[in-house]
Amino acid sequence: MSHKIQTLSGYLHEYQKSVLQPEEFWGKIAESFHWRKKWDKVLDWNFDEPDVKWFRNGKLNITENIFERHLYTMGDKPAIIWEPNDPNEETVTLTYRELYEKTCQFANAMEAKGIVKGDRVIIYMPMVPEAAIAMLACARIGAVHSVVFAGFSSTSLADRIVDCEAKMVLTSDGNFRGAKAIEVKSVVDEALEKSNSIESVIVLKRTGTPVTMKEGRDFWWHEEVEGLSSTHQAAEMDAEDMLFILYTSGSTGKPKGVVHTTGGYMVNTYYSFVNVFQYSIDDVYWCTADVGWITGHSYIVYGPLLAGATTLMFEGVPTFPHPGRFWEIIDKHKVNQFYTAPTAIRALQAFGLEPLEPYRFDSLKVIGSVGEPINEEAWHWYHDHVGKGNCPLVDTWWQTETGAIMISALAGVTPNKPAHASLPLPGIQPIIVDAEGNELTGNNVEGNLCVKFPWPSMLRTIYGEHERCKQTYFSTYPGLYFTGDGAKRDHDGYLRILGRVDDVINVSGHRMGTAEVENAINEHPKVIESAVVGYPHDIKGQGIYAYAICNMEGRTEENLINEIRETVSKIIGPIAKPDKVQIVSGLPKTRSGKIMRRILRKVASKEISNLGDTSTLLNPEVVDEIIKGAGL
Ligand code: WT7
Repeated sequence: MSHKIQTLSGYLHEYQKSVLQPEEFWGKIAESFHWRKKWDKVLDWNFDEPDVKWFRNGKLNITENIFERHLYTMGDKPAIIWEPNDPNEETVTLTYRELYEKTCQFANAMEAKGIVKGDRVIIYMPMVPEAAIAMLACARIGAVHSVVFAGFSSTSLADRIVDCEAKMVLTSDGNFRGAKAIEVKSVVDEALEKSNSIESVIVLKRTGTPVTMKEGRDFWWHEEVEGLSSTHQAAEMDAEDMLFILYTSGSTGKPKGVVHTTGGYMVNTYYSFVNVFQYSIDDVYWCTADVGWITGHSYIVYGPLLAGATTLMFEGVPTFPHPGRFWEIIDKHKVNQFYTAPTAIRALQAFGLEPLEPYRFDSLKVIGSVGEPINEEAWHWYHDHVGKGNCPLVDTWWQTETGAIMISALAGVTPNKPAHASLPLPGIQPIIVDAEGNELTGNNVEGNLCVKFPWPSMLRTIYGEHERCKQTYFSTYPGLYFTGDGAKRDHDGYLRILGRVDDVINVSGHRMGTAEVENAINEHPKVIESAVVGYPHDIKGQGIYAYAICNMEGRTEENLINEIRETVSKIIGPIAKPDKVQIVSGLPKTRSGKIMRRILRKVASKEISNLGDTSTLLNPEVVDEIIKGAGL
C-alpha cells in the first residue's frame, strides 16, 4: 500500500520532510486519489481568522475514491463485516460492489425525496451497515450528514436538528443493545415536535418495535429503495465543500457543530489509518466505536474504506451475552487490528481472565486505544492479555476537531511506551506551550498542547458560529490551534497527554461540558444552582460529580438526587447522568461571585489535605459543610 511508512528511519525522514515542505508532502499523498479536477494550490491558511483551505479548487467526490477507485481491483472484497448484537443472528458481509450498489440506491432514494447538494441530513441510527450506507449516500449526493449518537435524548436531537436546519432524518424503529431493544423512532417523533425544518424521515426496520408513521413525512427504508437503480452519478464537490457536521461538547452549555470538509479529510483519514494501524490489504480491522462519534466516522467508515480495507462493525455491547464477547468476535472474524477505548478495557479487565480463555487471539497484529488517557495498569493488561505481549499498542491522541489521529505510534514502526501517545504523525506539528503561549522546546517539559501548523483534516469552522470557532481554538494563543489538553514531553521525547485543562470532562471517552450538565440539572424545578466537576472514576476514567443547591420542600434528599439524575438523563441522555449528586446549602464563591471549581474538584476527588487558602472566599463556611456532606 502506498504511503505506508515501514521503518523508524522512514518515519524520521517523512516527518522532517513534512515539516520542511508540508505542501509537497500532503500534495504527494493527495495525488494517489481520484480528482475530477486537480487542485491549483495545496494550502492557503491563516490561524487568525481562522481561514484554512486545502487543495484549492480541487474537485472530487469522496465516495468515488471509496468505490470507483476500488471496484475493478477489489469489487468482491468484503468492505463491511457486520456482527449483530445477538450472536445467533447471521453476520452480514457487504463487498465493495454490494456496498457501492446499496449506497447508490439509497442516494437515489434520498434524491427522490428532494435532497440536494448542501442540504443537512441527520442520521440517528443504531450500529448497522445502513448507518454507513446513509453517511456514504449523503456524501455521494453532496448532502451534509450530521450523525447524532442514538443514545442522545430527544431534546439533544432536536437541538442539533434546529442548529443545522436539517431537512431529513434517517433513523430506525429501534436499536438492539445487549438484552434490550431501545426505541429510536419515538425519540425522533418527540424531537420533531420541537423543530420544524424536517421534511421527511426514512425509517429502517431493525427491531420490529411498533412505530407511528406520519403520513407524508415518514417512509420505510425498504419501500423507498425498492426498484431504484443501483448506480448513481456522484455529485462533484469542491475540496472545501462541507462533508459533515459533528456536534461535540465544549466548555459552554451549547454543543458545537464541528465542520469537516471533503478533500483534506479524505487524504488525512486515509493516510493516518494506513500508517497508525499498518493496515495490509487482506487484514480484517475492527474499531469498536459508535458511528455517532468522530472515531466511527474516521476509523470505521471513511479511513478504512478509502484504504480499501475490510472494516468490522459491531452492533452490540462488550458484555452481551457474556463478558467475552469482544474476544469471541476477534476469534470468529480473525481480526488483525483491534481499536477500542480504555474505559472498555477497564470494564472488561474487571471480569478477570476467564472470559478470554476460550478464544484465540493469534490473528491480532495491532491493538489500539482512543478517547482518553490510558492508565498504565489498563495499558499492561491490554498489552499482555489481549495483545499477548507481541502486538504493538497504539495510543492514539486526537479530537473531533482534528478529524484524524494526530499523535500516536505507528504500529511496530515507532516506539511504544505505556501511557504515552508518543510521537506526532508526519504532517502534524504539535507543540507544548507555557501559560503565555511560549513554545517549550526540549524534553521534560509540561504545559498546554497546541498545534502550530494546519493539517488537512482539521475543523474549518463551527457551523453557523465562526466567531466561536475562533474564540475557542485560535484566540487563547494567537497563531496556534489550542487543543484544550495538557501534555508533557518526557525525558525520552515522547508525548504524554495529561487530560483536559478546560471545563470539559471525559466520561468513558465521551466528552461532556460541565456547563451543559449544569444547565440540564438546573431544569429541575427544585434546583436553585448547581456546579458540576469531574473526579477520577475506576472504569469511566472520569465520573460526573454534581453539587446542587435545592429547595427541599416536599422532597427527601434521596428522592431529589434520583430526580436530578433522571432529569439529566432525559435532557441530554443517559451518558451524562451524574454519578454523584451532593445537595449543599451553598457553593464556594469568590467575592466576584465566581464558583471556585478547584475546591469542588478537590472534594470530589477526596483530596482535601491541600485546599489552598479559602479565607478570601465570599462564604468560606460552606467549604467545611461540603467536605462533611461528602463524607470526608
Ligand atoms: C479529547 C477529544 C478522538 C476520538 C475520541 C474522543 C481526549 C482522546 C486520547 C488519548 C489521552 C485522549 C483528549 C481530547 N483524548 N484520545 N489517546 N490520550 N486523551 O474525541 O470527544 O473529540 O474528545 O479526548 O482530552 O481532547 P473527542
